[in-house]
Amino acid sequence: MSKNILVYFLLWILLLVLVDVNCQLTPFKPSGLFRHTTTLIDNELYILGGSLTSNYTLVKGFFYLDISVPFNTQELSWQDRSSTINKIPLHDGATSVKGGANNDTLFLYGGLTNDPKMALIYTFDPLHSVWNSQEIVGINNTIRRQSLTGVIDYNGKFYLWGGVTSNNIIVNEMLILNTINLSWRKGSLVNAPTARYHFGATLLPNNKIIYIGGGDDITSKFNNETLSIGDTALSLREVYIYDTINDNWDTKNTTGEIPSNRYGFSTILGLDGQRIIIYGGAFNDSGYGDYRDSSLYVLDLTNFNWYIPKITGKIFPNSGGKIFPNPRAFHKANVISRYMVITFGVGYDRKAESDILLLDISNNEEYVWTTSFDPSPSPSSSSQTSNNSSDNSKMVGAIVGSLLSGIFLSVGSFFLYKWNKNKQNQNHITRTVLIPHSYSNC
Ligand SMILES: *[C@@H]1O[C@H](CO)[C@@H](O)[C@H](O)[C@H]1NC(C)=O
Ligand SMILES: *[C@@H]1O[C@H](CO)[C@@H](O)[C@H](O)[C@H]1NC(C)=O
Ligand SMILES: *[C@@H]1O[C@H](CO)[C@@H](O)[C@H](O)[C@H]1NC(C)=O
Ligand SMILES: *[C@@H]1O[C@H](CO)[C@@H](O)[C@H](O)[C@H]1NC(C)=O
Ligand SMILES: *[C@@H]1O[C@H](CO)[C@@H](O)[C@H](O)[C@H]1NC(C)=O
Ligand SMILES: *[C@@H]1O[C@H](CO)[C@@H](O)[C@H](O)[C@H]1NC(C)=O
Ligand SMILES: *[C@@H]1O[C@H](CO)[C@@H](O)[C@H](O)[C@H]1NC(C)=O
Repeated sequence: MSKNILVYFLLWILLLVLVDVNCQLTPFKPSGLFRHTTTLIDNELYILGGSLTSNYTLVKGFFYLDISVPFNTQELSWQDRSSTINKIPLHDGATSVKGGANNDTLFLYGGLTNDPKMALIYTFDPLHSVWNSQEIVGINNTIRRQSLTGVIDYNGKFYLWGGVTSNNIIVNEMLILNTINLSWRKGSLVNAPTARYHFGATLLPNNKIIYIGGGDDITSKFNNETLSIGDTALSLREVYIYDTINDNWDTKNTTGEIPSNRYGFSTILGLDGQRIIIYGGAFNDSGYGDYRDSSLYVLDLTNFNWYIPKITGKIFPNSGGKIFPNPRAFHKANVISRYMVITFGVGYDRKAESDILLLDISNNEEYVWTTSFDPSPSPSSSSQTSNNSSDNSKMVGAIVGSLLSGIFLSVGSFFLYKWNKNKQNQNHITRTVLIPHSYSNC
C-alpha cells in the first residue's frame, strides 16, 4: 500500500517536471517589429512597443528576455508582460532608459501614437509589475517627440535631444529629465548640431554624449527591402559631443573609413570605453545596397578615426554559405556581458535569422558573430561585477534544479518500470491522472 503511494508521488513529480519542460518549449512568440524600445534592468532585457514589420501597424507588445542564464538565439525564451501595459497607448519611436531613485525603473519618453491622451512620461517598476504616468515639474513641456535616442547619465539624468514633434517638425531642442526628483530642465543649444532624427547617441565614460548621423528630411521614403531612404541621410563625417557636466557642445571631424550617410542605425560603447560600434541603418540611395560598404563600423574615440573591424563567426549553425546577418534598420542594440545584443528591426527574413543577433566584442582585434549567449562577465570588462553573487546563486540554483529533476526522472522511471512489471501481476491498480493546476499556468 505505502509502495503505491510512493509510486503516485513519483508520478506526480514526473508530471511536474514534464509540465515544466513543456512550458520551456512553448515560450511567448513575438511578431516581427521595429521602432521599439529596449531597456536592460538587472537581468531582464525589456522590449516595448514598436510597429509590425508585416504591415507597419502599431503593436501592443511588452516582453523580456532573462539574460542571467545562457541562451541560444535559435530558441529564445521570451516572457510576455503585455498584460501590464493596458494603460499605455500603442506607440512606436519612443525612447527608454533605466533610472529613478533606486536605479531600477524603466522610464519611457515620447513616441508616435494615435492617442492624444498618451502621457509624455511613463514609468515601469519591474519588481511590482506596475506602470504609471508621471507628472514632471519644472518647465512647461507638452510637446511630444519621437524618433530620438534618449541617453541616461551616471547620475540619473535623462537627456532628450532632437527628434520629430507630433506636428512633423524636426527639432534640436535639449530637454533633461531628472529621473530622481522628476523635474525638467533645458540644456544649452550653443554649437548644437542641426535638427535631426533617427541619429545614434551614446554616453561616454567621461560624462559626455556622442551624437552621430541621422536624418533631417521628414519626407524621405523608406524601402524595407533595400533599406534605402533616398539621399536624405546626414553625414557621419562630423560627430557631436555634448558635455553633461558643463552643458556645452563640441564638434569633431572624423577621419579614416567614414561610413556612408545613414540613419536608423544603432550605436554602443565598446567594452574598453574607447570606441563606438555602429550597426545597420537606412542608407543613401545611390544604387541598391550602398550599405555594402559595411553595416558595422567602429569609431576610435582616442583619435576619432573610423575603421571597419575584423569580424568572424557566424549566425547560422548550419549556414548554407551565408555567414553574416543582413543589415537591419530601426532595431536596437544593448551591451550585455561581452556582447553587442541587437534586437528586432527591419531588413531580415525572420524565417532565416533570429530576432536577436549577438556580436562578441570582447576582443577588439576580432569581433565574433555567435548564436550562444554566455552571461558570465567578460574578462576584459572590469565594470560589470555588481550582480555577480546573484548571478552565481541563480546559476547554482539552475544546476541543482536540473540535477534534482534528473534524479527524480531516473528514480521515477525506475519505479515506473517496476510499477509496470507489478501491474502485469496485479490488475486491480487504477490509475488517477493528477493535474497539478497550480503549475500549469505558464
Ligand atoms: C496587421 O497585422 C496584424 C497581425 O498580423 C493584424 O492583427 C492587424 O489586423 C493588421 N493590421 C492591418 C491594418 O492590416
Ligand atoms: C503649457 O504650454 C501649453 C502650450 O504651449 C499651454 O497650452 C499651457 O497652458 C501651458 N501650461 C502652463 C501650466 O503654463
Ligand atoms: C544606475 O546603474 C548604471 C548601471 O546600470 C550606472 O552606470 C549608473 O551610474 C547608475 N545610476 C545611479 C544614479 O546610480
Ligand atoms: C532636482 O534636483 C536637482 C539637483 O540634482 C535640483 O537642481 C533641482 O532643483 C531639483 N528639482 C526639484 C523640483 O526638486
Ligand atoms: C516590407 O513591407 C511589406 C508590407 O509593407 C511586407 O509585406 C514585406 O514582408 C516587408 N519586407 C521586408 C523584407 O521586411
Ligand atoms: C548619396 O550617394 C550619391 C552617390 O554616391 C552621392 O552623389 C550623394 O551626394 C549622396 N547623398 C548624400 C546625401 O550623401
Ligand atoms: C572640420 O573640417 C572642415 C573642413 O572639412 C572645417 O571647415 C572645420 O573647421 C572642421 N571642424 C573642426 C571642428 O575641426
